[in-house]
Amino acid sequence: MKIRLHDKDFVPYLSETEIDKAVTSIADQINKNFQDKKPLFLAVLNGSFMFTSDLMKKIEIDCELSFVKLASYHGTQSSGEIKELIGLSDNIYNRHVIILEDIVDTGTTLGHLMEVLKTHDTASISIATLLLKPDVFKKKYPLHFVGMEIPNKFVVGYGLDYNESGRNLKAIYQLEE
Ligand code: IMP
Ligand code: MG
Repeated sequence: MKIRLHDKDFVPYLSETEIDKAVTSIADQINKNFQDKKPLFLAVLNGSFMFTSDLMKKIEIDCELSFVKLASYHGTQSSGEIKELIGLSDNIYNRHVIILEDIVDTGTTLGHLMEVLKTHDTASISIATLLLKPDVFKKKYPLHFVGMEIPNKFVVGYGLDYNESGRNLKAIYQLEE
């Protein structure tokens, strides 16, 4: 079923079942790779809140969760403009940090967060993103856990917004051509 947000129409793209499969595959890998490492998840607000919540329910190893905020997006195109990082506390020393992102587009947002994290003495830094647009991703750093690769089309739902609307949708919708 088509939905309308502000001035644009969106069509169904990824179902709840498909999203759940992607989240489960990320959780399985983390459960295996980080046993006895007590990873510290750093979820990037706002977009990753739903992914984070569902992922955490599938994490079976000892872990901690913290939230940071860093926005660079306006409308349906990545602006490339960087905003300040909020919420990083100094408890990341010697920790295995796993960044949780809803989507990696150009990678600019994440790149900035990585630069800040690299100045701290962490044990390791990994990235888990539900979605990746490989055709647009321009950065050199590795993405360790990717739920799904998608084409370069604007999507909403499951935490992702179009000018703040659509975050509540259970499935993911794509901008209608
Ligand atoms: P980047 O800096 O270009 O990688 O953009 C990353 C951020 O932009 C993500 O964390 C999202 O919040 C937002 N974003 C990127 N692509 C989309 C999209 O297709 N729909 C909604 N938000 C997006
Ligand atoms: Mg985001």
